[in-house]
Amino acid sequence: MIASLLYTSTAAANIDSGDVFAIIEASARRNPSRGVTGFLIYDGREFLQYVEGPQDALDILLSQLAEDRRHGGVRILHRAESPTRLFPKWAMRRAGQGAEEELAVISRTALPSAMMAELERFGSRRKAA
Ligand SMILES: Cc1cc2nc3c(=O)[nH]c(=O)nc-3n(C[C@H](O)[C@H](O)[C@H](O)COP(=O)(O)O)c2cc1C
Repeated sequence: MIASLLYTSTAAANIDSGDVFAIIEASARRNPSRGVTGFLIYDGREFLQYVEGPQDALDILLSQLAEDRRHGGVRILHRAESPTRLFPKWAMRRAGQGAEEELAVISRTALPSAMMAELERFGSRRKAA
């Protein structure tokens, strides 16, 4: 089974969009050997990341994320399991502002409804801010 995980975290105060590109670029480079795929949304203040892969790989990634000073307060919103990957081609993709096409792909994907609800909540908070 493929495990999946959706979490939010708060970006460190000194993070800018260049840092976010660097995070995504490094993640996309590293994730294939981890067997991890997914996407990352950054709204200028918070991250929302979806990752899927072997449970062990997600556990290791989570422990590294917890120590990463570029963000803090990792809050897991939802976990799921599925027989197949939903985003097999996305080693790590940026989605959201400036990456609307990815958002459209995500909205057409059969994410668990609880995850879709969290995504919508994150998006509407961003517009309200
Ligand atoms: C918001 C955010 C998302 C991240 N996503 C990933 C990811 O998908 N894959 C990954 O390998 N590292 C990701 N990282 C980086 C890890 O926290 C960590 O730097 C990386 O696993 C390398 O750890 P190491 O330097 O101890 O080897 C992310 C970092 C942040 C702040």
